Amino acid sequence: MANAIEVRGLVKRYDALAAVDGIDFDVPEGSVFAFLGPNGAGKTTTTEMLEGLRRRTSGDIRVLGLDPWTDGRELHRQIGVIPQEFHFFAKVTPKEAIAYYGRLFDKQPDPDALLDQVQLTDKADSRFDTLSGGQKQKLGLALSLVDEPRVCFLDEPTTGLDPHARRAIWNVVRDLRRDGRTVFLTTHYLEEAELLADQVAIINHGRIVAHGTPQEIIETYGGPERLRVQGSSELAEYVRQRLGIPVRFESGRLEIALREKGDALRILSAIDASGFPWTGFATERDTLEEVFVHLVGQMDEGVLKSAAPTVEGTP
Ligand SMILES: Nc1ncnc2c1ncn2[C@@H]1O[C@H](COP(=O)(O)OP(=O)(O)OP(=O)(O)O)[C@@H](O)[C@H]1O
Ligand SMILES: [Mg+2]
Repeated sequence: MANAIEVRGLVKRYDALAAVDGIDFDVPEGSVFAFLGPNGAGKTTTTEMLEGLRRRTSGDIRVLGLDPWTDGRELHRQIGVIPQEFHFFAKVTPKEAIAYYGRLFDKQPDPDALLDQVQLTDKADSRFDTLSGGQKQKLGLALSLVDEPRVCFLDEPTTGLDPHARRAIWNVVRDLRRDGRTVFLTTHYLEEAELLADQVAIINHGRIVAHGTPQEIIETYGGPERLRVQGSSELAEYVRQRLGIPVRFESGRLEIALREKGDALRILSAIDASGFPWTGFATERDTLEEVFVHLVGQMDEGVLKSAAPTVEGTP
């Protein structure tokens, strides 16, 4: 499969700050790529360089084979963009806005179908300045679809939306992917990335700290799968002694890391044979969110430590 986006050694400096500090990634055509990272990590800066709205300091970018900065005019006909904060003329209604975009791009969009797709039908004839934040975002998404873009850049399309509306946007992303379009998405909702994305990259302080499918990232950076059992501290102590393995105990719950295939059965048999009461068991893995918090937290600790002044007399 050809790549819709190729990025090599991309750098963006704002004076002394390297907001994007040498990143590389590819996005295959027809896939969903989620770009995750804490506030100020460099997501919007990267997204806008891909869209041709910001000039890079160095490195190489190809979107549909074009350089977004020098071939912007040709590229903009093939991409759809919704910025992190979508603004439009105050007195224009969503229906009028879609018709206006249609004329702009020389397309005949069906406003009712587009508004239905993003669940904004009830506000079709309301002025833009009367829409709520989430409704404005939805209109931004509808407008980005007018041009039937091959690549859609969605910068936090679901921030501030209620759970129901977020699901509507997820469905739009799924529809786009099903139609063979490429979606480049930034989000702070990790479960959204886990549900929608083929590939995920986590960026922190301008550098990519993890990259792969959500599953690969969880397997590489997450903790081992764990067995959880409801029981007493005596039972926890019994398992520790009997099997010689670490057992975490908290609020009536034992948590034991599973390292090998047969571990769960072995541990449950020991628990069952112990004579101590126990109920319900489950196995669980880290979610992408847990891995994210751990990875970013760990990195920031390192940054803080290395930036902390050394006190005389301490090593
Ligand atoms: N025009 C600018 N001039 C100077 N610094 C900037 C400019 N735009 C962004 N920055 C800085 O670059 C860094 C990255 O910003 P960016 O907007 O890309 O972050 P982000 O990952 O999109 O964050 P958020 O999740 O808050 O949207 C931040 O430290 C920000 O303050
Ligand atoms: Mg941003």
